[in-house]
Amino acid sequence: MSDYHIPVLLKESIDALNIRDHGIYVDTTLGGGGHTRAILERNETITVVSFDRDEDAIKQTASLQKEFSERLIIIRDNFANLRTGLALNRIKHIDGILFDLGVSSHQINSFERGFSFIYDTDLDMRMDQSAELTAFDVINKFPFEKLISIFYEYGEEKESGRIANAIVKNREIKEIGTTTELAEIIDRTVFSKQKIKAKARIFQAIRIFLNNELESLKIALEDSVKILHPSGRIAVISYHSLEDRIVKKFFKNEAIDCICPPDLLKCGCDKISTLKIISKKPILPTSTEISQNNRARSAKLRIAEKKEIL
Ligand SMILES: C[S@@+](CC[C@H](N)C(=O)[O-])C[C@H]1O[C@@H](n2cnc3c(N)ncnc32)[C@H](O)[C@@H]1O
Repeated sequence: MSDYHIPVLLKESIDALNIRDHGIYVDTTLGGGGHTRAILERNETITVVSFDRDEDAIKQTASLQKEFSERLIIIRDNFANLRTGLALNRIKHIDGILFDLGVSSHQINSFERGFSFIYDTDLDMRMDQSAELTAFDVINKFPFEKLISIFYEYGEEKESGRIANAIVKNREIKEIGTTTELAEIIDRTVFSKQKIKAKARIFQAIRIFLNNELESLKIALEDSVKILHPSGRIAVISYHSLEDRIVKKFFKNEAIDCICPPDLLKCGCDKISTLKIISKKPILPTSTEISQNNRARSAKLRIAEKKEIL
């Protein structure tokens, strides 16, 4: 198993794709390549296109690229640009798509990336190292109200106002340059029982905002439906409720035919369903998997299938 990242719900997610001979499958989140490898190994007639916006992920899968050079295409880009990336490789339709959202263990454990408050390092948190905006900019330059809305919306942090206020007061005296400085401000602001959770929520909020994670997911889900062949599957592994809510809502909305108010006698919306939900309830890791890989503890897998649209 790779030190880079242990794949989560591996068998469940590959089974979810219902892989068919000669199909084209997309892994939107290459990471350490665990899922990509498993998809490729499941059927030797298929092609896999894998995306990642992180240069480290692309570099460290060099041996995978070499081993499967005839059947693996790797694209360094945001999966929000799914259709463009595929079109550049002359691919219009696909047979299945997998999302394994969030950050890899490698990203969290690379202290210089600034994703974790455990390490003392610069405030960075970019998944794509070529992006201009960093966590430093957010913390030191964004207005008070914007900080509150980021912490509240993406971290669901009740103390967002007090934390934003403390950040603004501190940065008036001196720039907040490191993860430890930010973590200490949060520690001094919230009550003792909440300190670790508050730091986790604030760091998560900055990361999600900075990397535009939820918007990218919404765009890619919509585009997936447009390019999937009938019976093609979408499988999404999420790690927190903000992501899972988007997936659940999207699948539900795509699986219903009419969205007219119930008191309307005749349907006027002309909406037709595009997906069939395969997993009525999310698939969760077993206790054995969680005991072997703590990162799996919050994972949820949801699956939907493209319908034949007549
Ligand atoms: C949880 S890891 C994937 C791990 C992978 N499934 C494996 O088995 O090793 C998520 C990866 O997706 C990438 N990622 C997250 N959001 C992305 C996006 N919007 N576009 C492209 N890559 C993204 C991250 O850089 C990270 O490498």
